[in-house]
Amino acid sequence: MDSIVVTGGTPLKGKIAIAGAKNAALTLMPATLLSEEPLTLTNAPRLSDIKTMTALLQSLGVEVTSMQDGKVQVLSSHAMTSTTADYEIVRKMRASNLVLGPLLARHHRAVVSLPGGCAIGARPMDIHVTALEAMGAEIELKDGYLHAKAPGGLKGAKVPLRFASVGATENVLMAATLAKGTTVIENAAREPEIVDLAKCLRSMGAQIEGEGTSTITIQGVDRLGAATHPVVTDRIELGTYMLAPVFAGGEVECLGGRLDLVGSFVEKLDAAGVDVTETPDGLKVKRRTDRAKAVDVTTEVFPGFPTDLQAQMMAMLCTAEGTSVLEEKIFENRFMHAPELIRMGADIEVHGGIATVRGVERLKGAPVMATDLRASVSLILAGLAAEGETTVSRIYHLDRGYEHIEEKLSAVGAKIERVSA
Ligand code: EPZ
Repeated sequence: MDSIVVTGGTPLKGKIAIAGAKNAALTLMPATLLSEEPLTLTNAPRLSDIKTMTALLQSLGVEVTSMQDGKVQVLSSHAMTSTTADYEIVRKMRASNLVLGPLLARHHRAVVSLPGGCAIGARPMDIHVTALEAMGAEIELKDGYLHAKAPGGLKGAKVPLRFASVGATENVLMAATLAKGTTVIENAAREPEIVDLAKCLRSMGAQIEGEGTSTITIQGVDRLGAATHPVVTDRIELGTYMLAPVFAGGEVECLGGRLDLVGSFVEKLDAAGVDVTETPDGLKVKRRTDRAKAVDVTTEVFPGFPTDLQAQMMAMLCTAEGTSVLEEKIFENRFMHAPELIRMGADIEVHGGIATVRGVERLKGAPVMATDLRASVSLILAGLAAEGETTVSRIYHLDRGYEHIEEKLSAVGAKIERVSA
């Protein structure tokens, strides 16, 4: 198994290109199931999660052609062979459950394995199921699989979500494009990835209004056509690399970065003593003094502070001046990076969903272990600030969501290398 070795203490300088969003691509790819015409995605990220989604779609009979080193994906589901998403693939990636809505909408049936829990939580699918049942789907849980059918197709309905679930909003949004009649999603998720999906579906011929707000209205149509769509910039990769110069010192410009993607995150950076400046090509980031200031953080649904940047923010606050309180309100177990940061000398106390971080002068490099995607990158960032060498193991987690991280950070001066075991 590979590891990444980071040696701290070198200020960063230069530009980092931000890739297309993993969490947008993972919902745009299954959208191909809604049409027999080809869907072309540009600005696609090169990540292992995309390979997993490709394998899943191919197991259903979808043709996936990858071009330009993976930055362009052409998908076509004109020759489907299956509507069953197998446990072997789904267990590796929860986002596999995003084939449920499109399969039901166009093929009126689907068998999708429950994803099972993962490191950060139980991650049930009750909101997806309740919503699709409101549209006429009959869904039964048997042997760990959701057996779903919609004889005669789905019907438009009013669909109130008990929680603004990103995945459930995406499944219902895709399903509603081909349902008979009008669907209104209430308490819909407002993430930029939802907006990106709606734009793509509209270019395929869907009739959608209100994406980005809590109420999305979809008028079902008979069929969807071909489209070419650019994947939106990855706001989580963006936020991650914006933090790099805060850890290591120096200044970094994140190419493709947009303030509207990271609004609440930038507010917190400003309070922590970090300057973020818009440039013609992106966002330039530099900390105002040698040490950031403590800030309190509570994760919320968009446009609140993103849960996917909580681990990275906690790592940065470990050496801030003062005490910070972080509250994780989206997932029930998303502080697994804390024990690893403590190994590096951080002073963190976790009680349930609340972590109290007392800033220390400096972290010390140590061997640490990645536990989930965002926790692993928080350890890489901590290594940039730590004294000496940090070795992060189990970095297969990292490769799920960050393309060529060691190349991107080396290019701005970080001492970082991948070591094969
Ligand atoms: C998406 O996951 C993202 N993944 C996650 O990013 C992100 O953390 C999450 O949204 C929240 O922003 C993708 O887009 C592929 P949810 P999703 O449904 O859709 C509970 C990363 O690091 N819930 O909004 O699965 C759930 O257990 C990943 O890139 C139910 O209880 O998130 C969780 O506590 C991690 N029942 C909360 O809601 C349901 O039916 C948020 O889940 C669905 C969700």
